[in-house]
Amino acid sequence: MVIPPDWVGVAPRPRQVGQTHRSLTTSLGRFGRKAAVAFLLQQVATAYHQDMGITTDFLPHENPHPQFGSAGDDVPDPEVSRSTVEDVVSYLRMLSPPKRGPITDQVRRGEKVFSTIGCGSCHTPSMKTAVHPTIAALSDKEVRLYSDLLLHDMGSGLADNFVEGLATGTEWRTSPLWGLRLVAEHLGGQAFYLHDGRTSDLREVIQLHGGEAALSRLRFFSVLREDQEALLAFLLSL
Ligand code: HEC
Repeated sequence: MVIPPDWVGVAPRPRQVGQTHRSLTTSLGRFGRKAAVAFLLQQVATAYHQDMGITTDFLPHENPHPQFGSAGDDVPDPEVSRSTVEDVVSYLRMLSPPKRGPITDQVRRGEKVFSTIGCGSCHTPSMKTAVHPTIAALSDKEVRLYSDLLLHDMGSGLADNFVEGLATGTEWRTSPLWGLRLVAEHLGGQAFYLHDGRTSDLREVIQLHGGEAALSRLRFFSVLREDQEALLAFLLSL
């Protein structure tokens, strides 16, 4: 698979957390629950291939059948052209970030709590995109994503015990929190959070934060009830 350099989006942080499928280099993984994918093009081509079973010019060989192996599948047979995949990448890249909900006094109070108890040490409120050579709308822009896009050990409660590249069975990439208020609407009325969608309750999400996040969980449950409510209101304003 040939992947052109594509540093559009969030500027890389000086920490290698993922591996690309390139043989000689590692790049900063930013996409996927375990930050295994460094480039949007790679994410899209792999999604066609793995999630939908559709071959493309980038990954032209069928997946081997789980029972019957790969008879005949070594013949390249791209079903979707290079330009279609690139159009999908452009579409995704140009989607605008979700708009914030109303910012009330309670939401402002919650934002303070969020930073005081240490949620923002992983859910980094804001980053800046790299300079883009041709698309001004993507160049040097502030992005309020609430994630550092890095891997963190979240403890045994959230572990899937699945090692993916450099990510261990207890590590997850910090979920961006932008658009949190729209999750329920997009899932037909009920929100499901965390990598396996196991809960609709934001308090339970925080309760499940272990490992590196254990201290911020403890702090959350030790602040005033009003501060807890304010934090939840803040989350649902994103
Ligand atoms: C050590 C880093 C870290 C800290 C500190 C942290 N989080 Fe997280 N957070 C994560 C990771 C990683 C995930 C993804 C876990 C998963 O999906 O299993 C996550 C997931 C979430 C989610 C679910 C998002 C979704 O769409 O499913 C919410 C909400 C959240 N965190 C809020 C908070 C709040 C509030 C705090 C402070 C009390 C906090 N986090 C502190 C790393 C952190």
